[in-house]
Amino acid sequence: MTVVACPGSFDPITFGHLDVITRAARRFDEVVVAVVDNPNKQSTFTLDERLAMVSAEVAELSSVRVVSFRGLLVDLCRREGIDLVCKGVRGVADVEAELQMARMNLQIGDVDTVLLPANPVHAHLSSSLVREVARLGGPLDELVPERVAAALGARLGSAATG
Ligand code: PNS
Repeated sequence: MTVVACPGSFDPITFGHLDVITRAARRFDEVVVAVVDNPNKQSTFTLDERLAMVSAEVAELSSVRVVSFRGLLVDLCRREGIDLVCKGVRGVADVEAELQMARMNLQIGDVDTVLLPANPVHAHLSSSLVREVARLGGPLDELVPERVAAALGARLGSAATG
């Protein structure tokens, strides 16, 4: 039985995140989507909103559950019986950053990481770019699920900003 964590801010969850979560669910026995609660980072959506959005989008994946965490990812792994961290990588910049985090998690918690290459269809997707497109009134339908697009429109769209 192998349990993996897919950690992130999910501010908001995108089709890129969902692709990695779905692929992880196909390869491993259980996936714990771990939504970070970082009081030092300002987010567009509150922790509760991010948890609700992620939970709604993974509801049909029976081996996937959603938790929030504060502090070190390796401590969450120990608490939840998580064996591996699983992250998507879009390009070399991600690989550099993920290698650094993976090595740190290995050193401080003996937790290993598997990296999945992002589907090229999603390789340009990031929550921050999605927020920018939403703020500027661009189309979101190929970037995020419908419910997330609606939430982004309400929070950041031109109707919200006037
Ligand atoms: O979606 P993000 O913002 O790129 O996610 C980053 C996240 C939450 C995966 C990363 O910041 C993280 O693992 N935070 C937990 C803090 C931690 O364990 N830091 C030390 C090891 S790198």
